[in-house]
Amino acid sequence: MAALISPSILSADLTRLGEELQACEAAGADAIHIDVMDGRFVPNITFGPDIVAACKKVTSLPLDVHLMIVEPEKHLEAFANAGADFLTVHYETCPHIHRTLQTIRELGVKPGLTFNPGTPVEPLELLADMVELVLIMSVNPGFGGQSFIPQAIGKIRQTRAILEAHGSNAIVQVDGGITAATIRATYDAGARNFVAGTAVFRHQEGIAGGVSALREALN
Ligand code: DX5
Ligand code: ZN
Repeated sequence: MAALISPSILSADLTRLGEELQACEAAGADAIHIDVMDGRFVPNITFGPDIVAACKKVTSLPLDVHLMIVEPEKHLEAFANAGADFLTVHYETCPHIHRTLQTIRELGVKPGLTFNPGTPVEPLELLADMVELVLIMSVNPGFGGQSFIPQAIGKIRQTRAILEAHGSNAIVQVDGGITAATIRATYDAGARNFVAGTAVFRHQEGIAGGVSALREALN
């Protein structure tokens, strides 16, 4: 499977969000990653469903919504109605994870499941059939621009093995500290979807330069 690049709008210039999204599309990005933070599960506060709906108006790229919020089940319908194509929930926030993933699917959205750096991925053994995407966090969620945590590599390999054992075609996504220097090792471990905020939106040659630097690092 090809490598999919998903710029995270956490690092976009929000005064020009429409233009930034169009630049991502022109640069050949594969999806847009939207980081939803609630100031409770993570220290930071960011976007709600209205931002997802606004993104939907200006791009035809799939919207990949990463919910870093407590009680995500209360908000799934609102994000689905806003136009999310993927809804990814944290294992740590869902006491009834099986039901939460089922609800996402019933809403017509692709379910994603993510694990923090300190959370083991073994629960995926029981959930592999229910997900379209598994996100291995390679930073502690909350902020852009943090350093890649190398233990993510082993977890990506383990995730890939569990999915293969279950005959699942779910994609393995990695998020946090992805740069031209770190992306290759995550690909070799089995990741095929790469979220990048800083490396795309803060690249010295602009968004197109950022996306192509990541692609070149994979070639
Ligand atoms: C972190 C977010 C990431 C963030 C990545 O909590 O989930 O999506 O935007 O930013 P960079 O690529 O700068 O590490
Ligand atoms: Zn994210």
